[in-house]
Amino acid sequence: MRLSEVLGAGNYEPELQEPNENRKFDGGSRVSSMRDEGNDNNEAVHKQVRFSKKGGRMVARALATHSFAILRDDLGSISKTYRTCAEELKAFFAEKDDAKEVCTAAGDPYFDERGLPMWFPGYERCGSMREAYRIHAGRPDRQPWPSPTFRDAFLDLQHKLRGICDAALVAAVHCTSAPSLWVKDDGDLSVCYALHYPNVGGGNPPSCCSSSDIDNMNVGEHRDPSLMVIEPCCGVPGLEVQDHRSKQWIPVESVCKEGIDLVLFCGKAMESATRGWVPATVHRVRRGTQKRVCFIFEQKYRDFFPLACHD
Ligand SMILES: [Fe+2]
Repeated sequence: MRLSEVLGAGNYEPELQEPNENRKFDGGSRVSSMRDEGNDNNEAVHKQVRFSKKGGRMVARALATHSFAILRDDLGSISKTYRTCAEELKAFFAEKDDAKEVCTAAGDPYFDERGLPMWFPGYERCGSMREAYRIHAGRPDRQPWPSPTFRDAFLDLQHKLRGICDAALVAAVHCTSAPSLWVKDDGDLSVCYALHYPNVGGGNPPSCCSSSDIDNMNVGEHRDPSLMVIEPCCGVPGLEVQDHRSKQWIPVESVCKEGIDLVLFCGKAMESATRGWVPATVHRVRRGTQKRVCFIFEQKYRDFFPLACHD
């Protein structure tokens, strides 16, 4: 993967300002001090994605300015993996409920950074609004997989997306090494999930939506708790991210190419790790008229979650 462009939307271009060298991060010292405690078992992840010095600066500045960056996979290393995975996901979600419901790790919940049980890994239907297949990325075999080919495709794409998030984290918080080099299994709270929005029936908008928007939203505006979040453009409209600078809502699928562009955005842990220099991205999912299947990796490493993030 090579970063070729950081795209905005409409007619604005990202401002490539020099970063403020006076800012200070807790993350950098923490990473360098913890590096020796880890191991190099995941070195392949680190080798796979590395931004050039210039590319890393562009990503960091785009995140600081807009709170998101759009990366173009012009070498095709993600696109093929994405297409293979998307086919598997669409086939799985088209299965009958009883075939999907056996793919759940009932009784073995995923606990988030607050220690709260959130969901059972694997398949889950969330009312009529959406269905999901979620995994705890640090423990990928807790739940039954629909098939070996589904597992291989899912984990291949997850592996590549994690690599991009790690490279972006290195660029944004000036870590000296990718977190996958030093994070131990119980410190990896990252999650990866595929979502299917049938785009029929009711959504679950929060109270912050204006009344005119409520009927049009699957998920109302919010900020994720994570470090970085990455989603390959799925080609069906739905995801909207808010440009931190202009406050303009960007319909991701309208400005991106399916499987070639990836939207990289930030959560509250990233905002905290950079002491506000990189803001958490406000985003929402608009209800459309077509079935929408998307794939998301959410980067969460326990050491980046101070108590302040637990709101
Ligand atoms: Fe979100």
